[in-house]
Amino acid sequence: MLKQPQQPIIHGPQAFEAMRRAGRITAEMLDYITEHVKPGITTGEIDRLCFEFHKKHNATPGPLGFHGYPKSVCTSVNDVICHGIPGKRVLRDGDIINIDVTPIVDGWFGDSSRMFFVGNVSDKARKLCNATHEAMMRGIGQVRPGATLGDVGFAIQSYAEGLGYSVVRDFGGHGIGRVMHTVPQVLHYGAPNRGLRLEAGMFFTVEPMLNIGGPEAVILDDGWTAVTRDKSLSAQFEHTVAVTETGYEIFTLSPKGYHLPPYKSA
Ligand code: MF3
Ligand code: CO
Ligand code: CO
Repeated sequence: MLKQPQQPIIHGPQAFEAMRRAGRITAEMLDYITEHVKPGITTGEIDRLCFEFHKKHNATPGPLGFHGYPKSVCTSVNDVICHGIPGKRVLRDGDIINIDVTPIVDGWFGDSSRMFFVGNVSDKARKLCNATHEAMMRGIGQVRPGATLGDVGFAIQSYAEGLGYSVVRDFGGHGIGRVMHTVPQVLHYGAPNRGLRLEAGMFFTVEPMLNIGGPEAVILDDGWTAVTRDKSLSAQFEHTVAVTETGYEIFTLSPKGYHLPPYKSA
């Protein structure tokens, strides 16, 4: 096992500057890929385009070779919860897909994902995606010095379950910075005033996965792809955030304003 700090690192102004740069490339990559997500493209082609985007921006794909992960990004379609491996799968009208990118920029990691609509998607799929984005933003909205990770998880869980969705338990957010995954673990469920107390200078992701059916995940034989056990639709959004003196900063906001699908420039 790699050594991990027991306590989250409290980062200073230079680290914030570095994460703003990494977060901007991360968000720009998702902005860039948006127009390519349409019926007929393969997930492998999305991966290739993102790989080229990394190269063009002097970034390295964090996932590539991470514990043997074979590709540059994750592409999770329909009932895939997360960690879908890009390949020959062809996107079809009505699919929903999460694209998760984690570039390393000057040694710092950005990590963000969004849902995309492939052509015309069902009302129930749209509603799930909207709710997942709103759940993430409600979780992030709790972030400030003195609040707890339980507050974050509770905000996500209570909103999601109030709409009848389930929250995936088997995967969570994570501390991030000069490594992709570190303390703290960020659960997307919890109780108010419980868990780690937040301090300015902490960096972590908030990346809830919501299912239409039950929360249970199954890992496919490839060792990575996590799908819903009941084959129900799953959605996820992810931002990399910091705790600031007054609340939070989101490092991975879309410069193009692509917050919720369908993405349309102003
Ligand atoms: N971006 C993923 C996350 O949000 C991790 C990708 S690394 C992989 O944590 F190896 F799982 F692809
Ligand atoms: Co992440
Ligand atoms: Co990610």
